[in-house]
Amino acid sequence: MSPARSGKEQVAVTTPAGDVPAASGVGALAAEMKRSRVSFGDGALVACDRLVRIYSVDGVEVQALQGLDLLIQEGELTAMVGASGSGKSTLMNILAGLDRPTAGTVTVDGHDLGAMSRRERLEYRRSVVGFVWQQAARNLLPYLTARQNVMLPMRLRGAGRRERSARADELLALMGMAHCADRVPARMSGGEQQRTAIATALANGPRLLLADEPTGELDSQTAAEVFSALRMANAELGVTVLVVTHDTAVSAQVKRTIAIADGRTATETLRDVHGGGGSAVEYAVLDRAGRLQLPRDMTEPLGMRDRVRLEPRTDHIGVWPDTPASGGEAGDDR
Ligand SMILES: Nc1ncnc2c1ncn2[C@@H]1O[C@H](COP(=O)(O)OP(=O)(O)OP(=O)(O)O)[C@@H](O)[C@H]1O
Ligand SMILES: [Mg+2]
Repeated sequence: MSPARSGKEQVAVTTPAGDVPAASGVGALAAEMKRSRVSFGDGALVACDRLVRIYSVDGVEVQALQGLDLLIQEGELTAMVGASGSGKSTLMNILAGLDRPTAGTVTVDGHDLGAMSRRERLEYRRSVVGFVWQQAARNLLPYLTARQNVMLPMRLRGAGRRERSARADELLALMGMAHCADRVPARMSGGEQQRTAIATALANGPRLLLADEPTGELDSQTAAEVFSALRMANAELGVTVLVVTHDTAVSAQVKRTIAIADGRTATETLRDVHGGGGSAVEYAVLDRAGRLQLPRDMTEPLGMRDRVRLEPRTDHIGVWPDTPASGGEAGDDR
């Protein structure tokens, strides 16, 4: 188009942004996809969008994550539960920046974890996330004292000695670990090691603290102490915490518990933890394609398999077993 043929025609085919013609197929589709990506999880600290992770072992594919959607807001303390092999650690490793998704996107604090360079990934692991694993030996260096362990990540970030030492003592005190500051891990109990590990994970002031079964090897009393250290970190430092646990005592103490099943978020339980009664409401997660998973403990007693019958009502949807006898029209569907 010549510059002389101006004005009107150009305006007529140009979007307000002035670049992509609104009806130009691929361009419009790309813009639409970008918009939907931006709006999903806008403002959330963690946003997993249709996350897929496929492991390939000897030519056999294992789909550890199968299009998982998850949003976590800043400041939340969330528990994650699920059967063995459901994909919990796979998700934690991706969020920790140790593994990459096969497909889908995941952002944490604005960092697109699938698109980071090696260098950015390292920086991300140093300053944006902290992690605590089940095995104490994986969390702490055996030849360093508690204080030295906590100081180490700060040293890698380049903090000065005074700052490191002061912050290490502060964090150890917050975790109730001041008495172990000069001990090496072998001279601490399992619970003390895990509380030191939490202090170490908090050293560089991460936005997100990940803990993968941090109490898995502890007795229930010690586990409670470690869990209260995580709550302390959440309440006092405002760090967002995601903790994988098999411990129902732990999930009973958090407002939000997400259940993972077959590589997807299946249900969420929201609890009124401050209400004294601890009332809990279970929700099924409706993903962006409209899929939901019904918990097996609800479907099995009703013989629900393969397909269920749906009955839309004005304020809810009834779900019925697919048997000739199953009613609902006039029945009580509560
Ligand atoms: N490195 C790997 N290579 C191949 N397959 C893997 C790998 N890691 C995990 N898997 C497989 O992916 C699936 C999910 O594993 P994942 O470790 O995430 O489960 P999990 O929910 O953490 O289980 P658990 O409660 O036992 O820790 C499993 O089928 C597992 O065998
Ligand atoms: Mg695991």
